[in-house]
Amino acid sequence: MAQSEPGKVYVHTFGCQMNAYDTGKIRALLGRDGWESTQDPDQADLVLLNTCSIREKAVDKMHSVLGEFRREKREGRQVLLGVAGCVAQMEGEALMKRYPDVDLVFGPDGVPHVRKLVDEVAAGNRVLDTTFLDLETYPFVTDLDPDASSGVGAFVTIQKGCDNKCTYCIVPATRGAEASRPSEQILDECRRLVAEGVQEITLIGQNVNSYGLKVPGERTFAQLLYAVADIPGVERIRYTTSHPRDMGDDVIAAYRDLPQLTSHLHLPVQSGSNKVLRRMKRFYTRERYLRIVDGLREARPDLALTTDVIVGFPGETDEQFEETMTLLDEVGFVGSFSFKYSPRPGTPSLRLKEGYDDAVSGERLIRYQDRQRELSLAWTRSHEGQVVRVLVEGESRHDEGVVAGRTGSNLMVNFPGSLDLIGQFVDVRVTRGFTHSSRGERVTPPTGG
Ligand code: SAH
Ligand code: SF4
Ligand code: F3S
Repeated sequence: MAQSEPGKVYVHTFGCQMNAYDTGKIRALLGRDGWESTQDPDQADLVLLNTCSIREKAVDKMHSVLGEFRREKREGRQVLLGVAGCVAQMEGEALMKRYPDVDLVFGPDGVPHVRKLVDEVAAGNRVLDTTFLDLETYPFVTDLDPDASSGVGAFVTIQKGCDNKCTYCIVPATRGAEASRPSEQILDECRRLVAEGVQEITLIGQNVNSYGLKVPGERTFAQLLYAVADIPGVERIRYTTSHPRDMGDDVIAAYRDLPQLTSHLHLPVQSGSNKVLRRMKRFYTRERYLRIVDGLREARPDLALTTDVIVGFPGETDEQFEETMTLLDEVGFVGSFSFKYSPRPGTPSLRLKEGYDDAVSGERLIRYQDRQRELSLAWTRSHEGQVVRVLVEGESRHDEGVVAGRTGSNLMVNFPGSLDLIGQFVDVRVTRGFTHSSRGERVTPPTGG
């Protein structure tokens, strides 16, 4: 089917912050050619699924969403269908074969030239592009997501790909080798976002701590943090994801020096057992992880830590799992993304001789998550009666006349207030803590900026 004029594009995003960011860039680039983005899939002339393959479940979900659009197309709807992102990269050729009504398949490295790809499709061709681009000249997209300034915060990518080889992980295969984005370009994007009203910058990458290390003369990640903090109007800096192996003293020192750096850090540990960490090829020990945590807390006593955990990794014994449980308490994580090990095609963990048992993983996951919920609740409740400063992000999802803001430590506080508070720093007293958020009331007039 040929689509002579650009129409409306809908992008459905699965997966991590990198995909969310890529979606914004896709919409910005297609916008240059007149494609208007819509949040309503029924209105769209072009539907793109920006997919994730981190765990089997994510892939299953994508197939079911795609199935729905394919059904509509078979029933006569005029729509171009594309699959982008990590599943596209992994299964490109196979997707084209399996789904004859899919018009376009491209991996993460297709994003910078998405305009050309969509042009070819609009001209009536089926297009597959899963080539990786040259790292030296990687064309990071500088166009701003058209919606980036609608929130108080925005993502800014600082690198692409990943050079680690964690044995369970498919990301190096889907996103290719690591390349650091030139820091001047990063700072420029931050400045432009601030000029549009953004106050909180989240620097993103798969392994932000290794930023710049392979480029002679480039800033290190710590230096980049200082440079972002120097931009007037950047009130808060967050970043994700950092790898404990590369967490240096210079980044820890930044927590002492930079008030803009928020008191929340997501530092994925994956397991509390050294034996499992070794099989995962994470290249740190439980002890080293705890030393990093100590250093961070010395620099920033109120630092709230969250983490990622995989339970039931091949060969994980009851004792080894218990070490993850004790680490959870020892660090006192205030939140975790925890998952059952999911075998991914082509990953080195498939070659481990030790097996895994999905039912056992399931039981372990429930235990882990139960304990995490208790710790999360204890943490939010520890704020009850305290006055905290939040940056107001938007209206509460549940109640009218209630707005939601976040502390630097990432505590979400809902409190009665009007929408004109959005974008302001406000002092609120926390009245009640829940597992994932809290309720509060305003104690002072807004202080602005
Ligand atoms: N680059 C980030 C993580 C990206 S993937 C880092 O290294 O921290 C996000 C999380 O998904 C990982 O931290 C891990 O906990 C989880 N994950 C990745 N592969 C997985 C697999 N095969 N099974 C289960 N969880 C997995
Ligand atoms: Fe995957 Fe490890 Fe790279 Fe994270 S650091 S993306 S877990 S290979
Ligand atoms: Fe998923 Fe790809 Fe991100 S596999 S987690 S969307 S890098």
